[in-house]
Amino acid sequence: MPSASLRAEIVGWGKCLPDRVVTNVELAATLDTSDEWIRERTGICERRIVAEGEATTSMAVTAARQALERADADPRSLDLIIVATSTPDHLMPATASQVQNALGAAHAGAFDLNAGCSGFVYALTMGQTAIASGAFRTVLVIGADTMSAVVNWDDRTTAVLFGDGAGAVLLRATENDYGILSTLLGSDGAGDELLMIPAGGSALRASQQTLDDHLHGLQMNGRQVYRFATRILPDATQSVLLAAGLSLDAVDWVIPHQANTRIIEAAAERLKLPIDRFVVNVDAYGNTSAASVPIALCEAVEDGRIQPGQNLVLVGFGAGLTWAAAAVRWATEKPAGRRASWRQASRWALYRWAAFRTRLMRGVNRLMARVGRLWNVTIND
Ligand code: UT7
Repeated sequence: MPSASLRAEIVGWGKCLPDRVVTNVELAATLDTSDEWIRERTGICERRIVAEGEATTSMAVTAARQALERADADPRSLDLIIVATSTPDHLMPATASQVQNALGAAHAGAFDLNAGCSGFVYALTMGQTAIASGAFRTVLVIGADTMSAVVNWDDRTTAVLFGDGAGAVLLRATENDYGILSTLLGSDGAGDELLMIPAGGSALRASQQTLDDHLHGLQMNGRQVYRFATRILPDATQSVLLAAGLSLDAVDWVIPHQANTRIIEAAAERLKLPIDRFVVNVDAYGNTSAASVPIALCEAVEDGRIQPGQNLVLVGFGAGLTWAAAAVRWATEKPAGRRASWRQASRWALYRWAAFRTRLMRGVNRLMARVGRLWNVTIND
């Protein structure tokens, strides 16, 4: 029987941002836009874009390994891995399985979750629920997106807004009165066309025509999404606090989805909360979709803004339309010194072994396929 008070505590955190910085000025060289317009209307100054060979899985793995390092956890102790993304490496298999393999997390189940930019808070809620059920003790939750792979680089209304990145947290079961206190999920599919990638799925299959019509690129009605966001951010924040039995005054930090500083400022005004209680980093990374909330959380923990005992609200909104919020009482101290070197070495060895085993298995599978084909030819002859 699960304990009535079993909940999830965040014991590790990590992030990955590609090295390549793309400034507004660089974008203005190829698009009919300007640094001034982008800064004034969005607050974005620059964003990170993946290099050749980097993708959603590689960023997710880097963030996940950092989270395991912060918690000094063995990847083999993971029960479940959830990756929130709308830009998986492939439509199939799930990114989460690739992450599970790269971590050597031999005992973990793994699945992807797509709830647009709300994805990380959705996945956090699923992680909390899995732990509260008593069936899982240690859950890795990741938000990762390679938005540069799906934006239409000729469309100035969207291309300037997005960036790439990943963030991860490690959840562990606790019976204490901290961790994830309450969660809220919402969806309104009538708003589907406000933010969508029309082609490439089962409804509108990839064809030369869909390529010619740029239907594989992200399309957005910015003004409508803006109106939705400025309403839902404060509403979801208030509702999740009510469910946690907390007042707005008790909130130390709101960590909102990073889409536009104007959206965050409007939410702060509606909530009558000072803007300096919001974690904002959209200026440096743009909108990294499902990665934005965990990246902001990770930065605020690392630079010491978030301290044990503080109350946080994590709140996201995005394609679907969807929205999600979580009230969290932070408990974990930032690790002060270096980790035990043997545990670090064991993680390193596990990652090397996982990479070797993958190459070996792929080689064996290809060889078996070739032998199978040869066998068929011989028999049929
Ligand atoms: O993760 C969730 C998804 N995304 C969001 O949350 C985004 C929500 N929406 C927004 O943040 C804002 O609506 C935008 C930043 C997308 C746009 O800001 P806005 O103040 O709502 O601008 P607008 O769409 O009303 O456009 C104003 C003008 C238009 O020109 P006209 O029609 O007034 O002549 C646009 O064509 O700005 C023009 N414009 C641009 N100009 C220069 C749109 N994009 C650009 C651009 N550079 N990049």
